[in-house]
Amino acid sequence: MARRSEGAVWDRTAALLRDPYRFILRGCRRRGADAFATRLLLEPAVCVTGPHAAAVFQDHGRFTRHRAVPRRINRTLFGRGGVQGLDGAEHGHRKSVFLALMSPERVAELTALVEREFDCAAEGWRGRRKVVLYDEFRAVLTRAVCTWAGVPLVTADADRRTAQLTALYDYAARVGPRHWRSRLARRAAEDWAADVVGRIRAGRIEPPEDTAAHALAWHREPDGGLLDEHTAAVELLNVVRPVVAVSVYLAFAAHALHRHPRWRCELAAEAAAGGTDEAAADGAVPAAELFAQEVRRHYPFFPFVAARARHDMVLHGLRIARGRRVLLDLYGINHDPLLWEAPDDFRPERFRGWRWNLYDFVPQGAGDPATSHRCPGEPITVSLIKAVSRRLSRLDYEVPEQDFTVDMGRVPALPRSRCVIRVPEAST
Ligand code: HEM
Repeated sequence: MARRSEGAVWDRTAALLRDPYRFILRGCRRRGADAFATRLLLEPAVCVTGPHAAAVFQDHGRFTRHRAVPRRINRTLFGRGGVQGLDGAEHGHRKSVFLALMSPERVAELTALVEREFDCAAEGWRGRRKVVLYDEFRAVLTRAVCTWAGVPLVTADADRRTAQLTALYDYAARVGPRHWRSRLARRAAEDWAADVVGRIRAGRIEPPEDTAAHALAWHREPDGGLLDEHTAAVELLNVVRPVVAVSVYLAFAAHALHRHPRWRCELAAEAAAGGTDEAAADGAVPAAELFAQEVRRHYPFFPFVAARARHDMVLHGLRIARGRRVLLDLYGINHDPLLWEAPDDFRPERFRGWRWNLYDFVPQGAGDPATSHRCPGEPITVSLIKAVSRRLSRLDYEVPEQDFTVDMGRVPALPRSRCVIRVPEAST
């Protein structure tokens, strides 16, 4: 096979920022290949798509996460020293803490807390002129996850912490003042989380053993030492922040319920019949499960993930030099017409009888979460989308005129209106 080498090309950062979700798949399809060389952030880079590339990308022997993510993202979204930048055995050891926090029992506890907060918030929506669901979801999730994670949060502080945690993911990829807001939020949030870790270690607060705060405060590195306070704080935020970010998917779930009323009826009927997350006796997958998976596939969140080549290699016929930054397409794999029929249609039923595979449905990364960087929070994400979609489907509300367009030029994408509803005063 002829090997294409990386040629010098114009910097394409502006094009990537204009269309972050479709940049890679379109570039690949234009060239009739699953990989292409480009220039991003003034350095050569390679973009890859498809399940094969997704599998190769997980190989710690071939790719490293060290210095893979631009500094501006490390200083906002991730924080320095977190699990995202580790490789090999060190990564596996740290990752095990996160995976241990995601037992079915713990996921159910968080879901129950979110349901309680949702019900409480929904009481206050009655008669209000305008309820912006995305904002409400962020507040609901912040309160629930702090309780669940063993992070003390007084009511007077809840709005401030919600805004900080949002700024970490919502403004991370921005330029200008929003980016600086995200950096300030990172500093404040890390101080807050480090204070929690410090108080736990000093015996001044004692969250239950199965909470994230307890687990990270007392986690021991392979050398037997505790994490330094800053790293423990970064990792605690690696649990709290992404749960708040699930609000993006919840806003998309509201969007989908509005655009596809048939699914609203299906979910409402299932919830009225006491729908649970268990598959029915006949093996049928609950409608809420199909719906939640399709929300994660259809709607955009992370466009891609980044790593650096450990050594020279050839991937899909393209030479990749050692140290080269490589971007793995996530949105594109979830929308590839070679993998998905009518990929741009919202069709939850496609997940009926779906044969699970680690590399072709990748909204939260690819591979085995224990050995790759795949997100450990998928069970939580799916459970929360299901629970909130069921509740929304049974809520009596009106949807006023608004701009429901999904803004694909921002990361994360969101419906422009953030999903506005009105709940009648006398709703039941
Ligand atoms: C990693 C997406 C929710 C914790 C990731 C990655 C993606 C992702 C794309 C990187 C995968 C890679 O580098 O290969 C999402 C999305 C979520 C979500 C779209 C829903 C809004 C969660 C939740 C948690 C969580 C609920 C925890 C409670 C993490 C952690 C990592 C991670 C700790 C780093 C894993 C590692 O580097 O090994 N997530 N995630 N995420 N996510 Fe999530």
